[in-house]
Amino acid sequence: MLKIAPSILSADFSRLGEEIRAVEAAGADLIHIDVMDGHFVPNLTIGPAVVASLRKVTKIPFDVHLMIESPERYIDAFAAAGSDIITVHVEASTHLHRIITAIKQKGKKAGVSLNPATPLSAVEQILPEVDLLLVMTVNPGFGGQKFIDGMIDKIRRARDLIRASNPAVMLEVDGGITLENIRAVQEAGTDIVVAGASVFGSKDYAKTIGEMKTLTKRAVT
Ligand code: DX5
Ligand code: ZN
Repeated sequence: MLKIAPSILSADFSRLGEEIRAVEAAGADLIHIDVMDGHFVPNLTIGPAVVASLRKVTKIPFDVHLMIESPERYIDAFAAAGSDIITVHVEASTHLHRIITAIKQKGKKAGVSLNPATPLSAVEQILPEVDLLLVMTVNPGFGGQKFIDGMIDKIRRARDLIRASNPAVMLEVDGGITLENIRAVQEAGTDIVVAGASVFGSKDYAKTIGEMKTLTKRAVT
């Protein structure tokens, strides 16, 4: 079944703990935490101290998406803060293999992410080493953007690559997911969808996540 990972980027930051408990109760499978440094992306969000505080309010897995330059500088801190999955961007990682190894040595699941314009070939070599591939379907930096047309085909090709190279890899898709496109995204081969504005911008989190699960229940991947 498709897993739903609400992104707290669109949550009420003055009540983050409550917001996480609310989406957990509403059926979220993971919590997606967007970390931005104002360099790799034109926005600043949260650091390891906030992740460590949030770790105290829930046991739900934390899916930490690092949109930062030179992520190797912060792997230890985000691992110690209680991340379960740590994902880095190939575009921001000079020594990607070393970074993936460092994440796994901390006992965490390691993910790699691709911007919309970055070809799948950029992860071909590292795929046998990773636990998760994150395909961005918006240009990272902000919540609430529109899903980029053409990414469905990239998701399909990512699934083909995973099948051929390392079937254990989870395929996650991030950006612009709505009730209108979630089924097509799943049918293209997605295991986990990130949903920010569509969940936290809705009045009833349980209704929205419930609809997402119903819409994707019978789809074949
Ligand atoms: C974008 C972030 C996403 C974002 C998704 O840079 O990586 O995780 O929060 O938000 P929505 O679902 O609103 O596009
Ligand atoms: Zn994200």
